[in-house]
Amino acid sequence: MSVVAVSDFASWRDEARALLAANQPPHEITFIDATAPQKQSLFVGSAVRIVNAPTTPRSTPRVPKDFLTLAEKVSCHRDEIRFELLYRALWRLTHGEPKLLEIETDDDVRRLYLMEKAVRRDAHKMKAFVRFRRVEQEGEEYFIAWHRPDHHTVKPTAPFFTRRFPSMRWSILTPDLCAHWDLEELTFTPGVTSDQAPQGDLLEDMWKTYYRAIFNPARIKLKAMVKEMPKRHWKTLPETRIIDDLLDEAPARVEEMVRRQTGLATSAADFIPADHDYESLRQAAMSCRGCPLYQDATQTIFGEGPINAKIMLVGEQPGDKEDLEGKPFVGPAGQILDQALSEAGIDRSQIYVTNTVKHFKFTKSSKIRQHSKPNVHEMTACKPWVQAEIALVKPEVMVCLGATASQTLIGRDFKITKQRGEFIATEYCDQTIATYHPSAILRMPTQEAREETMAALIQDLRKVVSVL
Ligand code: URA
Ligand code: SF4
Repeated sequence: MSVVAVSDFASWRDEARALLAANQPPHEITFIDATAPQKQSLFVGSAVRIVNAPTTPRSTPRVPKDFLTLAEKVSCHRDEIRFELLYRALWRLTHGEPKLLEIETDDDVRRLYLMEKAVRRDAHKMKAFVRFRRVEQEGEEYFIAWHRPDHHTVKPTAPFFTRRFPSMRWSILTPDLCAHWDLEELTFTPGVTSDQAPQGDLLEDMWKTYYRAIFNPARIKLKAMVKEMPKRHWKTLPETRIIDDLLDEAPARVEEMVRRQTGLATSAADFIPADHDYESLRQAAMSCRGCPLYQDATQTIFGEGPINAKIMLVGEQPGDKEDLEGKPFVGPAGQILDQALSEAGIDRSQIYVTNTVKHFKFTKSSKIRQHSKPNVHEMTACKPWVQAEIALVKPEVMVCLGATASQTLIGRDFKITKQRGEFIATEYCDQTIATYHPSAILRMPTQEAREETMAALIQDLRKVVSVL
């Protein structure tokens, strides 16, 4: 009997390969789970490696790729039996049952799939339920969370959080393993022991005891800065000076990154490049995290049109079709708009068209994504984009379509029904005019009302032409 200690997929795979090559049948092997400390101690002193060396190495058998994918997931399951089960399945697959995975009634196969499902669900739970708490340490911000996974899902799931929160320093503490992101590197430390989920200050205290071991801000900053410093300067600068220079500059850089952290910024202002043209502005908007709306939408819909346009049209926010196509006013409201523009004698290709809010906000009812009006926080958060667009285009006439654009650019109390169709001088444009939103026409209950509102929209657009 051989006893093999394995802890994860990679170690299991290596051992399993060797065992298979040594022609060791599953009933002659006991796998022990090195991640279960109490279990391991039972075997202290006994051989925890393969006992029999391979006699005549067989050629490596072909293993279906699906099995390896399955094994990677299953090895995250907490059940100690997982490695044995996997090896038995591997043995059977390579010993006359190549189609084993298709036999769903087989006991081993059924168990493997159930385990895989449990691991998937657990990883999903971690993504959905981990909540970070902000703590400050020596003037820096950190985000910590406590989580108790059912399976060994911290390691495979942690990269998801680095993608989601790349510019926050965070730690996810769990009883098995803790994951830490220091803006540069994802590291893992042993789990923290706690009988219950620590909350609030308790969580903070617990994290603080780990803090010093985990984060070494000087190291982070140095590494980042050295990377950026032209190599030819290295020789001429005494090392100490390099280090001083780096440390002087680093806090500002890091602070800036933290300020831009995903999901926690409160305005688009943080994302606007100081020096920009239309292209760089548009590009920066693609990764805006100024308010939570980016989270559910497909993409940022930025304004479009000639940068020297005389007329600028500002709508509310992209709709379902815009969200998918990446352009403003291409859905049903866009069709109404096109029709009104053409009746007023305005060539759409000559005007700049944009929105007050750049991400589609919606509620999901059954399969339909239902438009939902942006609130005042979202309108305010997103305003810097449209302001920057106005500053670039400098339109002679600015048309606000509907209440959201009018309230953002003319005044909070602006009422379309009372004040539409009048030119008003605003801080953005001396000739600002508000009119009905094309979507309002789509929502009108009767044909008569639709025609009346459309006529008013066309009339207002004609006024625009008349002052140019
Ligand atoms: N409604 C808007 O306000 N803007 C669009 O881009 C589409 C519909
Ligand atoms: Fe940024 Fe505006 Fe999108 Fe919010 S809606 S994330 S502020 S672009």
